[in-house]
Amino acid sequence: MQMLTEIVRKADGNAIERASEIIKRGGLVAFPTETVYGLGANALDAEASGKIYKAKGRPSDNPLIVHLAYPDEAERYCFVPALFYKLAARFMPGPLTVIMPKKDIVPKTTTGGLNSVAIRIPSNPIAHELIERSGLPIAAPSANLSGKPSPTSFSHIEFDLMGRADMLIDGGDCEIGLESTIIRIDDDFCVSLLRPGAVTVEMLSELCTKVEIDPAVTQKFNGIPQAPGMKYRHYAPKAPLVILDGSDDKVYDYLKDKTDCGILCFEEDAELLKRPHAFSFGAKKDSREQAHELFACLRKFDFEKIGIIYARMPEHSGMGLAVFNRLIKAAGYEVIKL
Ligand code: TXA
Ligand code: MG
Repeated sequence: MQMLTEIVRKADGNAIERASEIIKRGGLVAFPTETVYGLGANALDAEASGKIYKAKGRPSDNPLIVHLAYPDEAERYCFVPALFYKLAARFMPGPLTVIMPKKDIVPKTTTGGLNSVAIRIPSNPIAHELIERSGLPIAAPSANLSGKPSPTSFSHIEFDLMGRADMLIDGGDCEIGLESTIIRIDDDFCVSLLRPGAVTVEMLSELCTKVEIDPAVTQKFNGIPQAPGMKYRHYAPKAPLVILDGSDDKVYDYLKDKTDCGILCFEEDAELLKRPHAFSFGAKKDSREQAHELFACLRKFDFEKIGIIYARMPEHSGMGLAVFNRLIKAAGYEVIKL
C-alpha cells in the first residue's frame, strides 16, 4: 500500500481543520497524544477503521481504542457504569482507557469483533481539537507498524507511516511516552488492570475498592487474554532483548566480556555508558523518565550493529509497573536472574 502522505505542523494555519476533513471523509490521520502518537480514523465507519489494520499490518482481532472529546459522550457508544464518572472526574482527560459493553452504533471492525469498546479522552490539545472538530469518535491504536515500539516523536511516525496514512501531524515529543492505562470495570467498586500506564494501580486504588492486576501484565500469557493485544509480540527492536535482573556489580560483571551487544541501562551506570551501543533510559529510581525514554531507546538499537541487547530491570511499583510490562514484552519474557 502506497499513498500520498501530507505532513503538517500544528502551527500551520488550518492544519487541524484539514485533518478533521480527512477523518470525516474516511481517511487516516496520525496525531500526537499525551501518551504516544495514534493513527486515527472515524470509529463509526467500518471501512475507515478497517484501513487502520491494513496500514499497521495489525491482526484484525486486536481492537482499537475509541477517542472522545469529553467523558459524557461515552453514553452514545457504550453502557456506562457509575464508576466511570468517578474515574473520569479524577483522571480524564488523560492517560486512562476504560473498557465497557458497546452499543450497536460502534462497528465490530473497530472493536476487533468484541462486544465491548475501549474509551479514552486524551488531554493533548491537538488530539482534543482534532476529535472536537471532526465531530466524530476517533478510533486510534498507537501509530507504529505492528510489533514495533510505539511512536513517541514525529520522526518515529514519519519512519513507520509515510505512504500509509493521508496525513501526519507533527506535535513534537509525547509528554508521557508510554501508552495509556487500560482497565475494565467489573462492578461499581472493582476494576481489572489490563495494561499499566501513567494512571497507576496506587492511584486507581484511591477510588476503587479492588484493582485486580491481570496476570498477563507481568507474566507470559498462555490462555485467552482480556486485552487481545497482549498475546502479540510487542515493542520489539530487531535484535533480541534480554533483561538482566541483579545488583549493579553482578550486572557489570556479567557484561564484562560481552562484545557487540546493545546495553539499555540507568543514568547511574557510568561504567556501562562508556561502552559502544549503550543508552541510558533514565535514573534508576525515576520511572517517569524511563517511561518517557524507553521506546525511543528501543528504536535507536535498530540502527546499531549488534547481535543482542541487554537491559537493566526496572522497578515494579508506581509507573515502574508500566515500564516493566513494556520491557518484558519487548524481551519476549527473557529474564536472566543474576
Ligand atoms: O495511549 C494509548 O492508549 C494509545 C493512544 C494512541 O491513545 N493507544 C494505544 O492503542 O495504545 P493500541 O491499539 O496500541 O493498544 C490498545 C490495546 C490493545 O492491547 C487492545 O487489545 C486493547 O487495547 N483493547 C482495545 N479495545 C479493547 C476491548 N474492547 N477489550 C479488551 N481490550 C481492548
Ligand atoms: Mg500499540
